[in-house]
Amino acid sequence: MKKPVILSTDPGIDDAVAIAILLFSEQIDVRLIAAAAGNVGVDKTLTNVLKLAKFLGKKVPVVRGCERAIIKAPIDAASVHGQSGMDGYDFPEPDESLLLQGQTAPAAIHEVVQNSAEKVTLVGIAPLTDFALYLRLYPEDVERIEELVLMGGCIGRGNYGVFSEFNIAGDPEAARIVFESGLKIRVAPLELGFQAKIKPEVSEQIKHLNRVGEMFYSLFKRYRGGSFNTGLKIYDALAAGILLQPDLFEFADTHVEIVTQEGSTYGASLVDLNNKLSKQSNALVGTAVNVDGFVKWFVNSIEKTC
Ligand code: RIB
Ligand code: CA
Repeated sequence: MKKPVILSTDPGIDDAVAIAILLFSEQIDVRLIAAAAGNVGVDKTLTNVLKLAKFLGKKVPVVRGCERAIIKAPIDAASVHGQSGMDGYDFPEPDESLLLQGQTAPAAIHEVVQNSAEKVTLVGIAPLTDFALYLRLYPEDVERIEELVLMGGCIGRGNYGVFSEFNIAGDPEAARIVFESGLKIRVAPLELGFQAKIKPEVSEQIKHLNRVGEMFYSLFKRYRGGSFNTGLKIYDALAAGILLQPDLFEFADTHVEIVTQEGSTYGASLVDLNNKLSKQSNALVGTAVNVDGFVKWFVNSIEKTC
């Protein structure tokens, strides 16, 4: 039985890889993709989702997410992904027929969850604005959610602030709502992306797999999440890995607290591995990944995208 999944994403070059892997997985059924504001503005991430779906030949409902974070002033990562959010490859026109016109992301998520006979799995690889507002608007849905798998946070140093990671820093209040929701949560923090870098020889292998691999090779040459020559951090693919190949990972069952007080630690994710806060666990945080196994799965997943 395929697991029903709803994806919130802000493509984003590493998002694009995770989207392709999830859409072609035989384990899951992607019922909805919500384009989020994050790496670039939501108009651009929505266009990128529609362009990618067209390129991949996939018919999946797509909805436009919120314009911006609940409180936090907009941030972006165009320096990492390019002005379009997916620079490096000339995609075909977007498939506008996939767009759910006049619907908000929370309402569309609620409709999918209500109409699903099985519990739905949420996957978040962007700032958590849309999932947080969904949980506030439809609290009765929590029992119909299997879990939330998210890429976000950092155990140590951040990539946005001193101790904050981009997806969490993009909407700290949303992240706090999510981590306080009571949902089962599994987290792919920055550290997993550091461990499972995609080396140039792997990028070269992907290039010759198929047209999708060739496209990703072009995007990887532009991507600034790490270095093409010393290793790329395809963060969002680690969240897809946790969902589809959990045995490749080690997890700590721990308390994660999000700092929402404005100031130098705003958006920091306190992953309390040593229980200094004496608070109940609210997440399984990935602490290690079998790198060889992940890379093999990563290449094999891209090989299956045609
Ligand atoms: O910090 C990495 C995360 O921020 C990834 O999801 C990347 O796509 C950006 O959104
Ligand atoms: Ca992302």
